Amino acid sequence: MIVNERVTAYINSLGKEYTPELMKLEKYALENQVPIIRKETQALLKFLLTTRQPKQILEVGTAIGFSALFMSEYSSHDCKITTIEKVEMRLVEARKNLVNQAFSKRDKISLLEGEALEILQELEAKKMTYDFIFLDAAKAQYMNFLPYLLNLLQAGGILLTDNVLQDGMIINSRYGIKRRDRTIHSRMREFLYAITHMDELETVILPTGDGVAISYKVK
Ligand SMILES: C[S@@+](CC[C@H](N)C(=O)[O-])C[C@H]1O[C@@H](n2cnc3c(N)ncnc32)[C@H](O)[C@@H]1O
Repeated sequence: MIVNERVTAYINSLGKEYTPELMKLEKYALENQVPIIRKETQALLKFLLTTRQPKQILEVGTAIGFSALFMSEYSSHDCKITTIEKVEMRLVEARKNLVNQAFSKRDKISLLEGEALEILQELEAKKMTYDFIFLDAAKAQYMNFLPYLLNLLQAGGILLTDNVLQDGMIINSRYGIKRRDRTIHSRMREFLYAITHMDELETVILPTGDGVAISYKVK
């Protein structure tokens, strides 16, 4: 947690309750160590969906479908959501949740199964475009995804990237990071430098949840 735990708990206590079905799925995820978006990030996502009203959302990293179902609940009725996941253990749960009748807006969601890098290339080849992209997958791969995401994101669209501050570890020098985490650390720094310095994007980084970057595609 980057922001003081009590401050975060206080902010979260001000949030409105979500639907009982989403709360049940969140509880299941937390009890089963499924990494889903934190409460603070949920509030930010809901705010962005309400204010931006995207019509075509692409999510990279479905896990068991929590954030996709969350977005289906809080996006406009004519919004379509495409979400990508590759891990079978997660897909088993995602497939079940995404057809669960308890989630009344689930028909907005299409699940694409496989390696995101390959699927992004296929979507690009099909000339698909999106006005909102939620990037929430393997952090070390964000930099590899970026060229495709830039082509898939419409001008005026938003790229929301989760887990960018690695619980604050991002500020440590390379030598302050455990050897096994060094690649992720340097790849994330590279990604953050890229999205904050390229002409195509205007980016703000916030210490929300595990750190989020909100990038607006200028051109
Ligand atoms: C943090 S979880 C996603 C959580 C989800 N967005 C939510 O909040 O409910 C990240 C997911 O991305 C998937 N993932 C990671 N790298 C991937 C890749 N290269 N292709 C497809 N899925 C990937 C993982 O299997 C994992 O389920």
